[in-house]
Amino acid sequence: MILLIMGAPGAGKGTQADLIAKKRGFKKLSTGDVFRKHIREKTELGKKVSELIAGGELVDDKTTFDLVKAEIAEANGKAMILDGYPRNPNQARLLRDYMEAEKVPFLGVLFLDVEEEVVVSRISNRRVCKGCGSTYHLEHKSPSSEGVCDQCGGEVYQRRDDAPENVKTRLQIYRRETEPLLNFYKDSDRLQRVDGGSSLEEVGQAIEASIKVLESSAA
Ligand code: AP5
Ligand code: MG
Repeated sequence: MILLIMGAPGAGKGTQADLIAKKRGFKKLSTGDVFRKHIREKTELGKKVSELIAGGELVDDKTTFDLVKAEIAEANGKAMILDGYPRNPNQARLLRDYMEAEKVPFLGVLFLDVEEEVVVSRISNRRVCKGCGSTYHLEHKSPSSEGVCDQCGGEVYQRRDDAPENVKTRLQIYRRETEPLLNFYKDSDRLQRVDGGSSLEEVGQAIEASIKVLESSAA
């Protein structure tokens, strides 16, 4: 079974997907996290996508879908939450066709709706761990010791794609490529809009309610 979480850069997808995964025992797949791991480990894929991602551009559909397919196969039927996939209608069609062919049930889509000025502020305050990818926020979730990850002791830094000029590119691409997916999923009647602009706890509660709606109407 697959649940998708969608929203603008900085909307809180990763934060909420972690909570859902922990609470419900789902496997979480963040395509952005996987790419960043490849970049850290300087794999061939990491070298290929490093500059593209830093500049806020999308990785090509084939590369990204190959990675997603491999992770779904590896989950071996375990429920999954996908954070950051799909990002355009072609990726959505590839995923839908694959799930139909492999008979993987589709729970639905959580769309985190957050105003642009809020996401820009969240991104400018975000810091992440180079080692384990844990996410921090300078105002309300800073590491206990500055620059050091509470979870693994790794270095806490600012993502290159979080520089203001790259955030601008990411938001443009989001509006052009990803937002049209709302129509794609609206037609399937499996789309839940969640107000993502409130506190972590309130967004978490709204998400829980939306997942219950999706579960109760699942085939
Ligand atoms: P990805 O890593 O997915 O980046 P993104 O979509 O831009 O989203 P972010 O990770 O920036 O934000 P988020 O929504 O996860 O927010 P977070 O929870 O951290 O992708 C990066 C790149 O990889 C792409 O640009 C592309 O190049 C490539 N890529 C990935 N997937 C791809 C695909 N399918 N196809 C092609 N290319 C792909 O929260 C942000 C901050 O806000 C944090 O500091 C957090 O603590 C804080 N926060 C969260 N919620 C709240 C709240 N309710 N109140 C206050 N603060 C909050
Ligand atoms: Mg994220």
